[in-house]
Amino acid sequence: MGTKVKRIGVLTSGGDAPGMNAAVRAVVRTAINQGVECIGIRRGWNGLINSDFICMTPSTVSHTINKGGTVLYTARSKEFMTVEGRQKALGTCKLLGLDGIVAIGGDGTFQGALALSRQAAENGTDIKVVGIPATIDNDIGCSHYTIGFDTACNTAIECIDKLRDTMQSHERCSVVEVMGRHAGYLALYVGISVGATAVLIPEREVDFQRDVVEKIRDARLAGSTHYMVVVAEGAGSAIDIGKQIHNEVGIDPRVTVLGHIQRGGAPTARDRETASRMGYEAVMTLLRDTGNSIIAMHDGRIVDLDMEEALAMKKNFQMDRYQVLEALSYSAHII
Ligand code: F6P
Repeated sequence: MGTKVKRIGVLTSGGDAPGMNAAVRAVVRTAINQGVECIGIRRGWNGLINSDFICMTPSTVSHTINKGGTVLYTARSKEFMTVEGRQKALGTCKLLGLDGIVAIGGDGTFQGALALSRQAAENGTDIKVVGIPATIDNDIGCSHYTIGFDTACNTAIECIDKLRDTMQSHERCSVVEVMGRHAGYLALYVGISVGATAVLIPEREVDFQRDVVEKIRDARLAGSTHYMVVVAEGAGSAIDIGKQIHNEVGIDPRVTVLGHIQRGGAPTARDRETASRMGYEAVMTLLRDTGNSIIAMHDGRIVDLDMEEALAMKKNFQMDRYQVLEALSYSAHII
């Protein structure tokens, strides 16, 4: 930018995540506190294309820190993936006099932000972008944590605890599908936390005999009369797994797909606090004029990373957690 930042935009894009509002609130209040005006872009990147915006003041974000969803609305914009769409968006940036944008979302959101900034540079203008990772999937390579993950885990755990009550009474098997897109973080954390009989994740090739049949058999041998199988959506369909259990184990499981309930609800302390810190850091990063960045969590610290480098990062799946799950399962205790 080189020049003083006077006005920035903030938007939420992609799938919503609990804690997005806390991040928006932090961006708005930090900006205003630093003497910078803040415009809320509504409905993700579509808002920039369609000039759909709202002027933010400290009071527009009052009483939002505790709310799930996103007050700015969100969308997955196909038009923004085109040069023409981004050209329209740059027109809105010019009209609004935006010096920078804070984009809250996942990988797709950040790719869009980078494409916008590059296209602006080709046009001889300057729009700096800063990304804040928010998705219940926790699947962003550059950050150990993404806003919304903790709340989604707690929501899934609460639902599964309830399922366990009825499964226990009827001595049944429950197969529960959790979200996570192509990643198994949600399933693994939830599986450990509910003491699941078996957990299927995309990061580990599923061997039905080893991962399901033997686990149920071992639990049965150990005296258990109810079984909880957690399936990450990326590892397969809970309905299919349920049918396979019926056919190969000879029991009659009940299948629950938790679905979008995992995306809603009041954010937990972890998500509110992380979102507040990341929102603050995003604005301070824009003001430091260090270039396009992503705000990330590294070992509990909030850091800002060069956006291009950050988008190329991959995180190692935490297989040590899978080992914990295995060690605590009945299979590990059969002599
Ligand atoms: O990325 C968040 C997420 O909830 C994934 O876990 C899931 O696969 C996807 O979004 C669902 O998307 P939609 O809300 O478009 O159905």
